[in-house]
Amino acid sequence: LPVLLVWAALGYLLGSIPFGMVLSRVFGLGDLRKIGSGNIGATNVLRTGHKGAAAGTLLLDGGKGAVAVLLARALAGEDAAQLAGLAAFVGHCYPVWLGFRGGKGVATFLGIVLALAWPVGLLCCATWLAGAAASRISSVGALAASASSAVWALITGHGQITLLCLALTALIFWRHRANLARLRAGTEPRIGAKG
Ligand code: G3P
Repeated sequence: LPVLLVWAALGYLLGSIPFGMVLSRVFGLGDLRKIGSGNIGATNVLRTGHKGAAAGTLLLDGGKGAVAVLLARALAGEDAAQLAGLAAFVGHCYPVWLGFRGGKGVATFLGIVLALAWPVGLLCCATWLAGAAASRISSVGALAASASSAVWALITGHGQITLLCLALTALIFWRHRANLARLRAGTEPRIGAKG
């Protein structure tokens, strides 16, 4: 058990690196908290108009989830990998460095699932793309991708991550409360609309 706690702590620390904040500072894009949704993720970085920084945020926020999983798996096995992934997700959403006010976890979720079971990850990415393409709204892609993840896990024979997928989906929906309210009100902005 103490070994698993170490992986939870390492996963949390990796996940808590707020790459959107880092890149928006590096590129001088202003305070993400005062732009668009106020979120620290790639979607909100894109509202600054800087596509490269948004792509970098997506890749790095996804990458930190994948790295947490792959490191834990290589050194401690599959249970540690799942725990490190969950911890990285929690770290992204509730980073100690930002007073526990972090992101919504979508990119990190995709990185974690890609690393745990790449067919499930690819199907989630495809679902994100399909949802976002159909609606032109990032949160719709995110909600569709997460909500379908447990189904993808089951039908591709990766049932061992179903429970984790369900837990991450619940957290993603919880973190998208404001988006869900805007979707219901019909006021959720389209991808890339300036903040
Ligand atoms: O990745 C978060 C996305 O689903 C929504 O972002 O900034 O529109 O709340 P945002």
